[in-house]
Amino acid sequence: MYNTPTKIGPVTLKNRLVMAPMTTYSSNPDYTVSDQEYTYYEARGQTVGMLITAAVAVSKSAHAFPRQISIEDDRFIPGLKTLAEKIQAGGAKAVMQLHHGGRMADASLFADPNDIVAPSAIQADRNFTVTPRAMTLDEVRQTQEDFLDAISRAIQAGYDGVELHGANTYLLQQFFSPQSNQRTDEYGGSIENRSRFIVELVKAAQERIQKEATKPFLLGYRLSPEERETPGITLADTRYLIRQLNALKVDYLHLSTGHYLQSSLRDPANTTPIIERLSDVLNDDIPLIGVGGINDLEDVEKALASGYQCVATGMTLIADPLWGDKLASKEPINTVITSDLVPDLMFERLHRWQKILAEGGRFILKDD
Ligand SMILES: Cc1cc2nc3c(=O)[nH]c(=O)nc-3n(C[C@H](O)[C@H](O)[C@H](O)COP(=O)(O)O)c2cc1C
Repeated sequence: MYNTPTKIGPVTLKNRLVMAPMTTYSSNPDYTVSDQEYTYYEARGQTVGMLITAAVAVSKSAHAFPRQISIEDDRFIPGLKTLAEKIQAGGAKAVMQLHHGGRMADASLFADPNDIVAPSAIQADRNFTVTPRAMTLDEVRQTQEDFLDAISRAIQAGYDGVELHGANTYLLQQFFSPQSNQRTDEYGGSIENRSRFIVELVKAAQERIQKEATKPFLLGYRLSPEERETPGITLADTRYLIRQLNALKVDYLHLSTGHYLQSSLRDPANTTPIIERLSDVLNDDIPLIGVGGINDLEDVEKALASGYQCVATGMTLIADPLWGDKLASKEPINTVITSDLVPDLMFERLHRWQKILAEGGRFILKDD
């Protein structure tokens, strides 16, 4: 049953519905949270048990998208605090996604491309990127510190937890990937070395939370189970990483897939869903969040029956902020995305997704 309370680490959610993290591209020009973002999030905190914010930049070099919300210094705390209060007002737990874009940064955001840093100087296969500069060892450690300082600020701002963004080809994934990480120091090479940045960060984050949190505060981890490229992350690699995260007892894992029952991208002949193929390492003690194409009650129930403890949805909540209530009442949900539903700059960006939206066949973007 999706509509019953559930525990994620030390935090109890009123139900198993989660809003997936979605970048809004709509901060104020100084990267503080904008009024349009407050309105957008407040509306969506009403019916879900947990709301994960857009990816929030942990430092100056972490920015990957235009108008990305930032937590890079203390001056961001008041706005982020108001945001947490808006989310929590509807009964949702507020979880902030912490992010560093690494080599996936939109290069037009950086006056000096030398400030775009990543594990190795290897360009991502995206036309908006440039070849990043490989981080020095000092920068690797400083970046871990930036994440930790962001956690301290999220605690001060009243959040119920943070999610480390280890998915979708951003920095943490870049460290883990044999494609983007070709370092020869202790952060590259063997799988143990490629996971070192993540493992050290999770341990230090738990210590920071233990020391500073004044109420239950969770630490989740989002990961992409595979990369298409060779070399690239395989399910065997992911099995290793999940074992590490299990041993560290993160409060939840969040599998970032395009569909909650997605099968392997690398091995299309095998149509068994990834969640089943990873079942030997998925641990009943560590809740798993599923995402991707979860639109109606049937999807929610099927996802929960497949082994996910909670279900996250993105596009559905963009289109219909009261999705959770409508699941219960079986009312049809809104599938037409109009400009009044999201911040202006996010609406503009959604046009880039139009092809994907049309392929999914579910949502329509409607200009005024
Ligand atoms: C506009 C938009 C922005 C997104 N931004 C993020 C993000 O900041 N962090 C992240 O981990 N995933 C991001 N995603 C991916 C979503 O969290 C989610 O995994 C994806 O939309 C699939 O779920 P859905 O089919 O329910 O939309 C974004 C997706 C969309 C559509």
